[in-house]
Amino acid sequence: MDRTFCIAPMMGRTDTHFRNLCRFASKHAVLFTEMVHSNALLKNKRIDKYIQKTDIENPVVFQLGGCEPMDLAEATKIINENKYDEINLNVGCPSPRVKSGGFGAFLMYEPTKVKDCLSAMTSSSDIPITAKIRLGVDNQDIEETLDNFIEIILQSGIKTLYVHARKGMLEGLNPKENRNIPPLNYERVYRLKEDFPELRLVIIGAPRSGGHTERLIKRLQINKNIVFKSNLTKNEIAIEYAKSSVAIVSSLYEGFGFPVGEAMSCAIPLIATNVASIPEITQSFAELIPAENADAIELAVRNIFKKPEKNQLRADAGRMHIIENFNWQKIAKLYEDLIYKTIDEFKC
Ligand SMILES: Cc1cc2nc3c(=O)[nH]c(=O)nc-3n(C[C@H](O)[C@H](O)[C@H](O)COP(=O)(O)O)c2cc1C
Repeated sequence: MDRTFCIAPMMGRTDTHFRNLCRFASKHAVLFTEMVHSNALLKNKRIDKYIQKTDIENPVVFQLGGCEPMDLAEATKIINENKYDEINLNVGCPSPRVKSGGFGAFLMYEPTKVKDCLSAMTSSSDIPITAKIRLGVDNQDIEETLDNFIEIILQSGIKTLYVHARKGMLEGLNPKENRNIPPLNYERVYRLKEDFPELRLVIIGAPRSGGHTERLIKRLQINKNIVFKSNLTKNEIAIEYAKSSVAIVSSLYEGFGFPVGEAMSCAIPLIATNVASIPEITQSFAELIPAENADAIELAVRNIFKKPEKNQLRADAGRMHIIENFNWQKIAKLYEDLIYKTIDEFKC
């Protein structure tokens, strides 16, 4: 769906009649419904009133309000049966009634709850789930809270957010004032979008021709950001590590743990899966994540890019840990001790 031009959701305005009118003006604009609370679909006998739509209106996004994951999932199923193109969770409405119901912009205080709501909706839907958020609410410091909020809610698997580029003031301003005060802050939104567009991923290995990886890279249009390098010598691998900002060892199983040891000895921040021999080798000098979890990799990469100095210090300490503990002298000494201990046990 091309979202270049959308008509925003507006309570008391964007009903089926208004949307029909809009469709005369533009064939392509994405239209929204008014916000409808999940209870209105689940408990009201006259749900036609809320779900009503004609086919010429599409593409149409249904905007849901609510904060109970199970209810939102049930409402999502109903919307799926009614030929909408997307379902959007309202995390931006600042009205006192919405606030007292604990949904809308109030949810900016509760990223984990929003993630749970979006996850429940995603697993009940064949059409995309999105959210419309504010930059923050009340006294939140948006430099701190917004990235964290987004990182958590993206764990639900949603790919698109709409941002009303100002804070919501739940104390002291009415909904109308909340549409103009405080001033719009597009710079903050732009900084979000700017997140790492130049990132390049070097994969040591080669993809299978026509296989899943190749197809995925093509579908995501990220071929410019990914480079495969295979048949490298040890020296060339060390050079690749040394040039990198972060190393990711996403193994499902690792017997000896050479890749983590190699990365750590080059003093680069390391993300590695918490499996087999890896935690024993990395100790606390790497970011350990569960295996087969792309979201965990993304979150760990973001965290490392956000705090480069702190992570570089840990990587430097990691290199010392490898030098001190994984060298021939130390291993030979441990081995020698073991042999003498075994001989002594035999003597007794
Ligand atoms: C009358 C009116 C009703 C609105 N109702 C909703 C709503 O139901 N859901 C929502 O997410 N935003 C709602 N909004 C906010 C708009 O979608 C939009 O985010 C906001 O007006 C900021 O855009 P603007 O700067 O172009 O006004 C409403 C706005 C107006 C003016």
